[in-house]
Amino acid sequence: MSGAVLGIDIGGTGIKGGAVDLGRGRLVGDRLRVRTPRPADPGAVGRVVQRVATGLIARHQLAPRIGCTFPGAVVNGVVRSAPNLSAAWVGVDAAAVLGAAVDAPVTVLNDADAAGLAEVAFGAGEGQAGVVVMLTLGTGIGSAIFLHGELLPNTEFGHIELHGHDAERLASDHTRQRKALSWKRWAQRLSDYLQHLEGLLYPDLFILGGGVSAHATDFIPHLKTQAPVVPARLGNAAGIIGAALAAAPPDRRPSQRLS
Ligand code: BGC
Repeated sequence: MSGAVLGIDIGGTGIKGGAVDLGRGRLVGDRLRVRTPRPADPGAVGRVVQRVATGLIARHQLAPRIGCTFPGAVVNGVVRSAPNLSAAWVGVDAAAVLGAAVDAPVTVLNDADAAGLAEVAFGAGEGQAGVVVMLTLGTGIGSAIFLHGELLPNTEFGHIELHGHDAERLASDHTRQRKALSWKRWAQRLSDYLQHLEGLLYPDLFILGGGVSAHATDFIPHLKTQAPVVPARLGNAAGIIGAALAAAPPDRRPSQRLS
């Protein structure tokens, strides 16, 4: 049996999985990606997670212990919000539903929290003390907040009010694409959002993730903030790696406390 841990990242468009080497914080072999079913209710998503997990467990001879992200708030395995998936998830014990689907223990956590855990352990936030705000800019905006490397889970700062709107409706990458905003125009919206967050949290560092971080040089130079802004380094593997980290036994997790 390999020492890698299986991470699965449930997103609005795709459900992605991979075997994670927790020593080096990277994927072993390729990701497996299946389109998110519609409607994305617990039964349909559970079946896809089961397909992805079974394939990867057999391919990499993984222990049947799984970490899984969810694009909403998750408290003790129970979904509390699912703004970009199916409302049928709200109140559902996702850890129990997915655990039954794959017949293994499943740890479920918010997707941005998972991406942040991975970036702080192995990416752009490695070794960074103080307050780090990781944001994932995709269909929605996810947030993960760290103090000296420790996560405060389920912060949901994508939903603060900005100019009278839900912030993610104004500043997500989805909105940039839908409204065909130039990098500069989108960066103005993003600056407003980051400045608003700065007035609430006074972070030492912002890390921007999501697929759009691959275009960091197009928009980060236009941002006006007090704190430095850096792109995430682990790309679209961050969620998978963070999910695996969350599921790993405590002695296999890198120490994250910095002071
Ligand atoms: C959700 C967050 C999630 C983010 C990215 C937001 O709409 O409320 O929980 O992290 O989208 O998927």
